[in-house]
Amino acid sequence: MKERKYLTLDPMGLTQRERHGYLLSAVAPRPIAFASTIDKEGRVNLSPFSFFNVFSSNPPIMVFSPSRKGTDNSTKDTHHNVLDVPEVVINIVNYPIVEQMSLSSTAYEQGVNEFVKSGLTEIPSDIVAPPRVAESPVAFECKVDDVISLGDQGGAGNLVICRVVKMHIDTAVLNEDQRIDTQKMDLVARMGGMWYTKASGATLFEIPKPLRAKGIGVDALPEHARMSNILTGNDLGRLGNISTFPDDSALAIAKEKLSAEPKVDDTLVHLQVHTMLQEGKTEEALALLFAYTD
Ligand SMILES: Cc1cc2nc3c(=O)[nH]c(=O)nc-3n(C[C@H](O)[C@H](O)[C@H](O)COP(=O)(O)O)c2cc1C
Repeated sequence: MKERKYLTLDPMGLTQRERHGYLLSAVAPRPIAFASTIDKEGRVNLSPFSFFNVFSSNPPIMVFSPSRKGTDNSTKDTHHNVLDVPEVVINIVNYPIVEQMSLSSTAYEQGVNEFVKSGLTEIPSDIVAPPRVAESPVAFECKVDDVISLGDQGGAGNLVICRVVKMHIDTAVLNEDQRIDTQKMDLVARMGGMWYTKASGATLFEIPKPLRAKGIGVDALPEHARMSNILTGNDLGRLGNISTFPDDSALAIAKEKLSAEPKVDDTLVHLQVHTMLQEGKTEEALALLFAYTD
């Protein structure tokens, strides 16, 4: 690994604004819970929260966090609503509704319905009282099991523990097996500052992960490969994920390939291994590395 320099910080030595900035720019991208709730009078509220994730599938539990405002320590309508009426719909946000979602985060007065302000469509839920967003690719009707306060100062989160009791999935995002097709979801996520990211098209990639077999590990690779300036961390990770060492016939083929080269050295081998990995020839690349090292 190349030598690196670090800026090392004590989080409580920073201002709330600085701390917020570092935390949110580093812990990203974050999915967005577009939460619909109602108050005691039954008035509807819709607001986005990127302090959000799924934490359990049995029981199905999601958590999001409406924080105390860093500027004036006030609490949010969504927070009051889930304490008064412990039900919420977590609507998933994708690219076609990202601007309307952003608009809905405006601090409108209590009782203002952000479905109306953002021009999104309310549909009644099956089990819970808050309506869901018709345009969302997936909506989760939830009962709120608990609300856990993390502090009483500006910036303190309030964990809303949500148990999913119904799921609604737009059939347009399903494949033939009735499973969600990640490419069709066209999801967006929140980064630091005003940045968002799209999770679709060329930004998506797959990493083959053997479910049962264990990878040999980067530590099992020859030292010249681990110290290479050509092979990247991703190259090493991909090679270390292979579960078996190359057999004799793979090594023989690789040796023959090397013997056809006029001059064989670390640079040539690493460049070839890097190219093979780019082409998806993972086992062949590992064989070349070990054939050269032999
Ligand atoms: C994409 C996005 C993500 C947000 N995430 C959070 C969050 O995780 N926690 C939070 O307190 N506010 C978050 N906000 C700000 C709230 O949406 C905003 O304060 C909103 O006015 C709260 O509405 P409410 O008072 O009706 O609940 C986010 C805003 C946007 C646009």
